[in-house]
Amino acid sequence: VRIFVPRDSAAVSVGADEVAGALQRAADDAGVAIDLIRTGSRGMLWLEPLVEVDTGDGRVGYGPVTPGDVPSLLAGGLLDGGEHPLRLGKVDELPWLARQNRVTFARVGVVDPLDPDDYVRHGGLAGLRAALELSPADVVTEVTDSGLRGRGGAGFPAGIKWKTVLDTPGELKFICCNADEGDSGTFADRMLMEGDPFLLIEGMTIAAHAVGATEGYLYIRSEYPDAIATMRAAIGVARDRGWLGDSVLGTPLAFDLHIRVGAGAYICGEETSMLDSLEGKRGMVRAKPPIPAIEGLFGRPTVVNNVLTLATVPVVLADGAKAYQELGVERSRGTQVFQLAGNIKRGGIVETAFGVTLRELIEDYGGGTRSGRPVRTAQVGGPLGAYLPPDQFDLPMDYEAFAAAGAMVGHGGIVVFDDTVDMAAQARFAMEFCAIESCGKCTPCRVGSVRGVEVIDKIVAGERRDENLALLDDLCDLMTEGSLCAMGGLTPLPVRSALTHFADDFLGEAAAAS
Ligand code: NAI
Ligand code: SF4
Repeated sequence: VRIFVPRDSAAVSVGADEVAGALQRAADDAGVAIDLIRTGSRGMLWLEPLVEVDTGDGRVGYGPVTPGDVPSLLAGGLLDGGEHPLRLGKVDELPWLARQNRVTFARVGVVDPLDPDDYVRHGGLAGLRAALELSPADVVTEVTDSGLRGRGGAGFPAGIKWKTVLDTPGELKFICCNADEGDSGTFADRMLMEGDPFLLIEGMTIAAHAVGATEGYLYIRSEYPDAIATMRAAIGVARDRGWLGDSVLGTPLAFDLHIRVGAGAYICGEETSMLDSLEGKRGMVRAKPPIPAIEGLFGRPTVVNNVLTLATVPVVLADGAKAYQELGVERSRGTQVFQLAGNIKRGGIVETAFGVTLRELIEDYGGGTRSGRPVRTAQVGGPLGAYLPPDQFDLPMDYEAFAAAGAMVGHGGIVVFDDTVDMAAQARFAMEFCAIESCGKCTPCRVGSVRGVEVIDKIVAGERRDENLALLDDLCDLMTEGSLCAMGGLTPLPVRSALTHFADDFLGEAAAAS
């Protein structure tokens, strides 16, 4: 009997290892042979640890399981997918999962992440094989035609970035994957790396073929030890299998991959700081131009893409640009891997085509707040993203529609708050976060963020309110226009959205007195 228990760190944090151990011991004691397979997580985090059994007619899930549930599960229906109070039904048919469009995350939670045969059985390497049949320029065209845009947040067309690298002459070129997933409320990169590491390796290898690179670097934040271990192991397996090395899949393509671990600075998620860090320097933002596509790692032409961008490329090559391009709306094509977090009843991964509304994500998928209180706001796109009030929840998830509303889709993280949130404190937090994480290179960000905290404190204290509100507005303009990178440039976004939509929260002592 094949039984699946996630090894994803979110599942492990709520006891998946203990459940797996209890299952194996109980089965051994009962003399029942089970094949216990550790997978990634399906992304239904409120159901973790989720145990699945292969019935031969689909996988049946039970959850959330504690080690104490194991005896009754084994004595009850677990081995044949039968009845038990924790039985959820066929996992693929659970409405939360069934209505998603899992493209990039198709294998996550399904396969054993480190079993290369399982990977190939589930369609792995089809994209790389297809790419190797094409010329580099044709691979780039395919990626461009798919409409795939950078999933790290900025949404720059991946194919155009690759074309710049392909067209820039150079003996040595690099593929750098940005896995410094620092945004609050985001975890998709981590789950992909822990749940389907070969997919990322395949995507980076396709990128190497497309632009003529021979070396790749995967920059992972140190806060992700399980992802680092999984990727290290997967790279080892890929080398053994000839998926990486001097002759990838027996072709003339030579490409190898190395992991570098960050040291905890948010700014190292900004591409040029990441390159500095990869070069062994302190991570400081570089002025652009030159863009990394022309002068990147060690001054060489470099593709810098986020985990999800690179991990989507194999699907584009395997199924064709058209299939991917047909999903989505306007200029936001394909799917986005949304991450529901914060005060939410059903948090986790929702991969669906662009165009879905925030309301569908928060209410239909998320089920509202975990506290049961009304949703007051959601911050979309990380700590530099805007706070949206519920009357804007019908906005379609689309890069341009969000930008027009003064917000951003970013990396797809959605953090939900109930009506107890203090939005002046959230605005203050945005400035404080910037003050702490600023690389210090430019004044609007380094000094502006510190002044921002002070001004918000004064506003809330009722000190010369109108004057300080005007000052904050002026400061936000200066940071937006004068900062070298998105850290200082986007910090005004959460501050301004809080001021615009939740002005009463800034009345502070004035409100208390009235
Ligand atoms: P950007 O708009 O400056 O650049 C986007 C990308 O396109 C970069 O890789 C840039 O080098 C490239 N590019 C621009 N013009 C090009 C050309 N002509 N040819 C080839 N490549 C070209 O944005 P940036 O500063 O890289 O990223 C800002 C975004 O990062 C924000 O919108 C935010 O959403 C996101 N972000 C994500 C975080 C995360 O944890 N994933 C954390 C913080 C911010
Ligand atoms: Fe550094 Fe902030 Fe300037 Fe970015 S905006 S370069 S983080 S000081």
